[in-house]
Amino acid sequence: MRLHNRRALVTGGSDGIGLAIAEAFSREGADVLIVGRDTKKLDAARKHLGGTIETLSADLATSAGIAAVVEHVKKSGRPLDTLVNNAGVAFLVPFEIVSEEQSSSPSRSM
Ligand SMILES: NC(=O)c1ccc[n+]([C@@H]2O[C@H](COP(=O)([O-])OP(=O)(O)OC[C@H]3O[C@@H](n4cnc5c(N)ncnc54)[C@H](OP(=O)(O)O)[C@@H]3O)[C@@H](O)[C@H]2O)c1
Repeated sequence: MRLHNRRALVTGGSDGIGLAIAEAFSREGADVLIVGRDTKKLDAARKHLGGTIETLSADLATSAGIAAVVEHVKKSGRPLDTLVNNAGVAFLVPFEIVSEEQSSSPSRSM
């Protein structure tokens, strides 16, 4: 319980690598906020993780989604100790042929 009374935000914490990261933080006693888009996945993750898991649905590919997360954290009155920027994109193509559209469309993950 090395992270008792610490607060962590894990983006993309409802699935895959992010879920495993959220689980590790939770196991160490942290209060974890996970962000994803799909509320069903967020609910399933909360059930799976148990403990003091908080969820927030927001699309981090949009400015509005990012602003909603910032607002949520500010309103809670509890600052973050850790931010894990896990949600992202990966296009499995050579770097030099990644298009401008691909590099700015993070609604796809993997
Ligand atoms: N798996 C690999 O082999 C690998 C290798 C290298 C790098 N990575 C990187 O590691 C990270 C996690 O990969 P993963 O395989 O665990 O992915 P994953 O299983 O597809 O999980 C992605 C997570 O991010 C959320 N997400 C996706 N787009 C989002 C958005 N626009 N706004 C908010 N949340 C969003 C998803 O929830 P919703 O769909 O509900 O939004 C989900 O919780 C990614 O950044 C990926 O590029 C993965």
